[in-house]
Amino acid sequence: RHHVLSLADFTAAEYNTVLQTAASFEEVLSRRTKKVPTLQGQVVANLFFEASTRTRSSFELAAKRLSADTLNFAASTSSMTKGETILDTAKTYLAMGTDIMVIRHREAGVPDAIAQEMDRLGVRVSVLNAGDGQHEHPSQGLLDLFTICTLIDPSNPQLELLKGKKIAIVGDILHSRVARSNIWSLTASGAQVHLAAPPTLLPKLFAEYVLEEAGDLSSISLISNRQLFIHWQLEPALQDADFVMTLRLQKERMTAHLLPSLREYHQLFGITRPKLQLCRPNVKVLHPGPVNRGVEISSELMDDPEFSLIQSQVTSGVAVRMALLYLLGSSKV
Ligand code: CP
Repeated sequence: RHHVLSLADFTAAEYNTVLQTAASFEEVLSRRTKKVPTLQGQVVANLFFEASTRTRSSFELAAKRLSADTLNFAASTSSMTKGETILDTAKTYLAMGTDIMVIRHREAGVPDAIAQEMDRLGVRVSVLNAGDGQHEHPSQGLLDLFTICTLIDPSNPQLELLKGKKIAIVGDILHSRVARSNIWSLTASGAQVHLAAPPTLLPKLFAEYVLEEAGDLSSISLISNRQLFIHWQLEPALQDADFVMTLRLQKERMTAHLLPSLREYHQLFGITRPKLQLCRPNVKVLHPGPVNRGVEISSELMDDPEFSLIQSQVTSGVAVRMALLYLLGSSKV
C-alpha cells in the first residue's frame, strides 16, 4: 500500500510491521542524536484543514527525526481564505515535490479524495489520514495499540499480546474517529472491546441494537470473528477491564439537544479512581487528547502516573508516526 487512510483493511502482518518498526525508532529516539538519515531529500507536507496540537506536531517532529524536509499548512492562514480549493491546494504542494501528504479535515473522506486524485494523476505521492471528520484517525489507533503493547512487552510489541484482554472504550463514540480506528485495531488483536456510552452518543445502528437488547450486555457481530460489545451503562464495560480508553466529549460537533449536562455526564460516564475498582487491579487508562478535565475523566486520575497512560500515548506518537512515514517513504507497508 502507499496510502494509510483507514485501519479497516489492515492485516495482522501490517500491524506487526508498524509495531516493530516503531519499537526500533523508539530506540533511535533514546539515543543522544535522535536522528536517522532515512528520508533525507523527501518532503512531508502537513496539510491541516482542522485544528490539532498532538498530531500535527508529532508528524512534524517524526519527519524531522527521519531527516525529511517538512512543510506545514494551516487552512486559516492559507490561500484557501481567497477561495482556493482543497484539491488545488494539494496539487500546489505536489508541484513543490511533496512525497507524503499528512491530511486532517473536519469532513470524512477528504484524505481519500486527495489520495484518489494523486493516483489518477499517476504520481507516487502517499497520503496519510491524520483524522477525517467522524471517520477514522489511523495513526492515533496505531499509537494507542503501540502504547498498550509496549506496556505488556516493551522488548517485543506485537498484536497477539492483546489476545483475551478486555478493553473498554467509553464516551462520545458517535463523534469519535479515534474510537472507529481503535475498534478495527483492537478487535483485530483478539481483544474483547466493550463500548460504553449513552444511546445519544452511540452511532444510530449501535444505539438501536442496545435499545432492542434492553441494555443488557450486548454482543454485536457487525465484524465477523471479532469481539465487540456495546453497553449504555458504564459498569459492565469497566468490570474486569485491563484497559479503559476514555474519549473527549466533542462539544463542537454536537447540536444542543445532544449535549448532555456535563455534571450528570461526569457522574454517569466520567472515569474516576473509585470507578476503577471495578477493573482489574493493574488497569491503565488512556485518552487520545485533548481532554475536558473533570468531564470524561477526573483531573486527579488524568495526572496519576499509576493509572494514566496519557503522556505515554503522546510520546509513543512520535515513534509510531516515524514508522508510518518510513514505511510509506520506502513503500514497505
Ligand atoms: N489526539 C489528537 O488527534 O489530538 P490533536 O487534535 O491535538 O491532534
